[in-house]
Parts: sequence; structure tokens; C-alpha cells
Amino acid sequence: MPRVTISGRALHYEDVGQGVPFLLLHGFPLGSESFWPQLERPIAGARLIVPDHRGFGKSDLVPGVSTMEALADDGLALLDALQIPSAIVGGVSMGGYVTIALTRRDPGRVKALVLIDTQSLADDDAGKQRREAVAQDVEKNGAGVVAEAMLPRLLAPECPAEIKARVDRLMRSSSPAAIAAASRGMATRTDGKDILSRFGGPCLVIVGEKDVITPPEKAQVMVDLVKGAQLEVIPNAGHLTNLEQPELFRAAVERFVSKLA
Ligand code: MLT
Repeated sequence: MPRVTISGRALHYEDVGQGVPFLLLHGFPLGSESFWPQLERPIAGARLIVPDHRGFGKSDLVPGVSTMEALADDGLALLDALQIPSAIVGGVSMGGYVTIALTRRDPGRVKALVLIDTQSLADDDAGKQRREAVAQDVEKNGAGVVAEAMLPRLLAPECPAEIKARVDRLMRSSSPAAIAAASRGMATRTDGKDILSRFGGPCLVIVGEKDVITPPEKAQVMVDLVKGAQLEVIPNAGHLTNLEQPELFRAAVERFVSKLA
């Protein structure tokens, strides 16, 4: 797995496939491995660049709160290091929050958006308190508490047991400090309405029809904000459409990418 050094810390990433660069950002509390079907068989027409966010997977943790802006800056620094002037930028859930933050930071680097099982809305006060409670719980009791709480809500009931088991393993292997830092970071994110309504490029919004974390209504909010955005609702999938229905996910992204080349 290649890596770049950003301010003295290692950021690991996968770089697979050929075509339009596509910075693809993972969700919470996972790692680049959570794109395993796409890494094993890349999307036609795309070069997938898939970092481990700071503290996750093999990447070093940076002390402090992992704000969505900080993760976005890591993504931009990775594009700089790879000498990629602009890319499709997209992500799953927290990766979508980072995508929106990156678009706010530097819209000229974003050729197109792919917003997957995510939302543009910020947390309300109760949500922010839950994030802090999660951070403290994981610091005290380890990653298992987050895996236990999240697994039943992440995947549709019909999701095969082996996928559930791998997602569970992945969450449990994440660093408690990285999970706490990202949980606190998600609490600080702002509403993405302004930036999405200004975005002028192509946009694909993907959501699992059974996603209970960021359900189709939240996907529709983003579709309504971005002029010309396309919506793909993936049947028999929950919050991790790329793992639960990888072939439908692939087909949707390949249709989108083929129009950009
Ligand atoms: C994720 O999948 O990244 C998280 O569920 C996002 C969130 O907790 O808002």
C-alpha cells in the first residue's frame, strides 16, 4: 500500500485502475478496506485513489479532533502529491461529509461529486452530544462498543453473514483514538447546503433503499440542492451500498464516469 507524508505523518492509500482520477473516501469507523469489491475489481474508466483517513487503517493519527476540513485537507494534499489537478471526489457517509468539506475548501479540484449514503445536514444539539458520548465510550471501552452499536444499523437485514462479519472485524480493528477524534470531528461539521447549491459540475447521489442511518429522504435533499444531480436508489441495500450490492453500485458509478471522460 503506497503512502505519502503530510506534515511528517504517513497517509496510506490504495491506487487502482486507470482512467479519470476518483478520490474515494471511506466512512466511519472503517478504512480503505471498506471498498474491497471496488479495490479488487476497479470501476471501469476510473483510477480509484482511496486513502485511509488519519488514524484509520495504516494511516498515522494526527493529535486533536479530526474535523471534516482536516480530512479534506489530507485528501487535497494527497492529490497534490500525486500531481492530480482535479478529480471526481466522493465518499460513503463520513466520506461524503469530507467530500462536501473538500468542495468548500477548493471547488476547482472537484470535477464531479459522488455522494454515497451520506447527507448534507449538520448534527443537531442532541446529535453532537451523542458524538461526544461515543468518543468517551470508545476511549474508555475500546472499538468494540462502536461496532456493537453500529453493526445492526449499517447493513440491510438480508446482507450476507460473511459481509457482516468482515465489516464487524474492520470496525473492531480501528483505533479507539481515531474513532473518538472522528466522532468529535463529525459533530463540528456545518450544513453543506451553501456549497452543494453552488456546485456546477456533475453529481451522482447513491443511497441504499434500506439505509436507516442516512435514508433516501436525506439523499433527496442533496439531489434537490445540486442542479442536474442524478439519484440512484439501490434496492436491498442499507448504509453500505458498495459492499451490499457491489454490482449495482459498480453499474451506477460506471454509467456516471463514462459520461465524464
Ligand atoms: C458513517 O457511516 O460514516 C457514519 O454512520 C456517519 C455518521 O455517523 O453520521
